[in-house]
Amino acid sequence: MNKSKFVFALFFIIPLFLKAESKQDLNLLKPPMDEFIDSLMEKMSLEEKLGQLAQYPGGGSLGFNTVIDDEKKKLIKKGKVGSFLHVLGADFLGELQRIAVEESRLGIPLIFGLDVIHGLKTIFPVPLAAACSFEPEALEKTTRIAAVEAAASGIHWTFAPMVDIALDPRWGRIVEGAGEDPYLGAVMAKAQVEGYQGDDLSFENTILACPKHYVAYGAAQGGRDYNSVEVSLRTLNEVYLPPFLAAVKAGAGSLMNGFNDINGEPMANNKELLTDVLRDKWGFEGFVVSDWNSIAELLNHGVVKDRVDAGKKALTAGIDMDMTSGIFGEEILKSVKKGDISEKLVDKAVRRILEAKYKLGLFDDPFKYCKVEVEKAEVLKDEHIEAAKEAACKSIVLLKNESGVLPLKKDLGTVAVIGSLADDSRAPLGSWKAFGEEKDVVTVLEGIKNAVSKDTKVIYSKGCDIKGNDKSGFKEAVSVATEADMVVLVLGESADMSGEARSRSEIDLPGVQKELARKIAGTGTEVVVVLMNGRPLSIPWLTENVPAILEAWFLGIGSGNAIADVLFGDYNPGGKLAVTIPRSVGQIPYFYYHKNTGRPSSVEDLFTSRYFDLPITPLYPFGHGLSYTEFKYSKLKIKNKKVKTNDSLEISFSIKNTGKIAGSEVIQLYIKDVVASIAPPVKKLVGFKRIYLENGEEVKINMKMPINLLGFYNKEMKKVLEPGEVKIMIGSSSEDIRLDDSFTIEGKVSEIDEAEIYYSEISVNSD
Ligand code: BGC
Repeated sequence: MNKSKFVFALFFIIPLFLKAESKQDLNLLKPPMDEFIDSLMEKMSLEEKLGQLAQYPGGGSLGFNTVIDDEKKKLIKKGKVGSFLHVLGADFLGELQRIAVEESRLGIPLIFGLDVIHGLKTIFPVPLAAACSFEPEALEKTTRIAAVEAAASGIHWTFAPMVDIALDPRWGRIVEGAGEDPYLGAVMAKAQVEGYQGDDLSFENTILACPKHYVAYGAAQGGRDYNSVEVSLRTLNEVYLPPFLAAVKAGAGSLMNGFNDINGEPMANNKELLTDVLRDKWGFEGFVVSDWNSIAELLNHGVVKDRVDAGKKALTAGIDMDMTSGIFGEEILKSVKKGDISEKLVDKAVRRILEAKYKLGLFDDPFKYCKVEVEKAEVLKDEHIEAAKEAACKSIVLLKNESGVLPLKKDLGTVAVIGSLADDSRAPLGSWKAFGEEKDVVTVLEGIKNAVSKDTKVIYSKGCDIKGNDKSGFKEAVSVATEADMVVLVLGESADMSGEARSRSEIDLPGVQKELARKIAGTGTEVVVVLMNGRPLSIPWLTENVPAILEAWFLGIGSGNAIADVLFGDYNPGGKLAVTIPRSVGQIPYFYYHKNTGRPSSVEDLFTSRYFDLPITPLYPFGHGLSYTEFKYSKLKIKNKKVKTNDSLEISFSIKNTGKIAGSEVIQLYIKDVVASIAPPVKKLVGFKRIYLENGEEVKINMKMPINLLGFYNKEMKKVLEPGEVKIMIGSSSEDIRLDDSFTIEGKVSEIDEAEIYYSEISVNSD
């Protein structure tokens, strides 16, 4: 409590409490939200309460809707629905809200939700690409814009961010998250919650965030979507939970459960995680929405005997709102009437949902998100379109650039642009395109045409489709390549190959694209490859045979111009991989924070932890990404080489842009416990910052790393900090360490608060 609040409490609130003689007096002292909700709930019938817990899709089960059928309108009038999802449009939603507010008995406003994952109409890079920017400030900015556009179009609530850690690139939903690292995941989760929710949820341009899919959904066995998860409690705590904790601590107003079971316990029925951890340990105050039909799916999991049982278990476990299954509307009613569930349990969930509506300001003005003129003014604004291109530039990762092939000259005689993705305006929108439209996308081909000199000839040839076996276009592509001075070959996946229900059993280039690449490389014309894809692709052949490769993921509407800016040097790339790129599907899972093992992999020794038929390294490691300039790290100093719990380690070093052009570098801080009671990972990211330096510019970096960041779960499953030596490694990727040193944690083993989240602070001084 700050000083002024304390004085207020001392002189005003406490004396009122002392004087209060009746319940009514005490009510006056309640915060206005509680008082308002109490009095509303007193008026609500059980059916109306259950109505608040029910969420239905707009018009149909698939696609987003701007119309709604009469049956749904009847439900609204009867107060039997609390929320709709997959709906959009200020005008349309204004009308639905009007029915709720004017034609239902109690006039409780509806809350409208939509998957606004990387933009509403101005589509930004997919989340995996955005994580590769390693710039949370940039992600917060685009998320804010997404919220502004969504709010202007009648949406109060997004089902985002997806904060699932993903270690298996076969899993299609890896595209929706921030990759493999819990620290990066936590930082990006926080940035997105803050972006969506802004400073105050009651503003008309802020929307409720919903971190999902709680929890470990990304650990689906075999990378097969919706599959079971087997995970140790330690890994759950150290890898999968931290981004959720970060989102909760950042104030996320809601949360969604995963479809998965964890060690046999489906998440929709997981009281231990939904209530004991989320609410009791972490203090989450928002509401939990079930993922689509996941309450009914408890039947398929085989843990309930019927829908009534499913509803009872899910509500008891801690789910407050039922997305689409209808169980909370009907079956819970039966349970309460039979006395199987107490109405108090229903009340808890109802209160949480009404609180969210209250915080959004919907009881003050239910129509404030439904202003057609605001929608027209905000959606796809020029500055939003510009931000989309900026974000796209920041997300591109330069994987390889042998002998400085890139950047290309703008006055080349002829540039051949080959590959169907080059001319594809759907792919850059990626998975969850919300209301993004192809007409707003700049393709790679258009971007290149915009970038080159007026005398440069740009010739396009498709070569082949993304999928399928048709090679009839190879001949033309080869002849185009042969004629050209330079080839830009665009390869990868279509948008529908990643995302929900889009797991792949292979992670190489689909169709005959690899063969096309061989043919084009065989022409002898220099080739640079642009990859567009929603997951890491194993591309060993390209890596060995093509001099330059750009990883562009799906970059949103600004895609083509951003890629061209990087290709022709108007933007110096600085993105880094948020996920390891393995050499082959057989290497999965390959993530940088693995344990050392008793037999660490060694090239010289077969009897070590490795595959005998593959090199021991990944194709590209976590944190990797090149620039057109070089950076020199020097002068590492640790201010306090002996630290204890709750201290911060203070580090400084210098970094200089030693190349000829301005550029950015993501400085990465890793640590390793030298000896611990539980085998530590070989490295762990505990801080990073993307910095922009002019050529020749040198700056001093100061880092303050809370020692508690090093906490881990010991044998007794207590989160602890153990005394001993810790190595620090500072570098340009997880494999490119430029400076290292060590420090010592002193004192006894100490316990660390599991409900706290820690971040390193990094500042840049120009001296
Ligand atoms: C997905 C969620 C999504 C929901 C609503 C589900 O199938 O798993 O991520 O938010 O649908 O669209």
